[in-house]
Amino acid sequence: MVMGMRAVAGAVALLAVSGGAWAQDGDPAAGEQNFMQCGACHQVGANAMHLVGPDLNGIVGRVIGSVEGFAYGEATAAMGADGTEWTEELLMEYLVNPTEFIGGSSRMPMMYPDEQFRRDVIAYLAQFDAEGNRAE
Ligand code: HEC
Repeated sequence: MVMGMRAVAGAVALLAVSGGAWAQDGDPAAGEQNFMQCGACHQVGANAMHLVGPDLNGIVGRVIGSVEGFAYGEATAAMGADGTEWTEELLMEYLVNPTEFIGGSSRMPMMYPDEQFRRDVIAYLAQFDAEGNRAE
């Protein structure tokens, strides 16, 4: 509960800073290229499996730290315990610094400071539903 509230407060703060330029403005084709940097640890698509990180099918709208069959770090699982879902806004914030966002130790060690990079990769991920079907 407390963690979820924190995430929402963070998203509101970010909105104030960046003036609401979100992944809707992202380029999925560029994001597909960007995703190659995630691909060592994550998959999307029809046959996506968990690697070092969980599969990311349907990540926009998926409850944080909730996918079946993946052993999340404690802090990540706790953040989703109240049902908080990933939005494009929260993903924008998360990818800057997962450990800071989670407010505990994240098992995802990467940081992606480039705003356009994040916007594009999120626009790409947003095309996949929970079954891994990609929207045209
Ligand atoms: C070195 C491996 C690695 C790389 C590279 C990596 N991740 Fe992760 N990611 C992880 C791990 C491990 C977790 C689980 C974190 C935890 O349980 O604390 C995770 C979690 C996530 C989550 C939360 C998933 C959920 O179900 O709540 C998202 C979203 C995510 N990563 C997106 C990305 C994106 C986008 C990229 C590339 C820009 C990326 N990651 C690159 C390892 C990685």
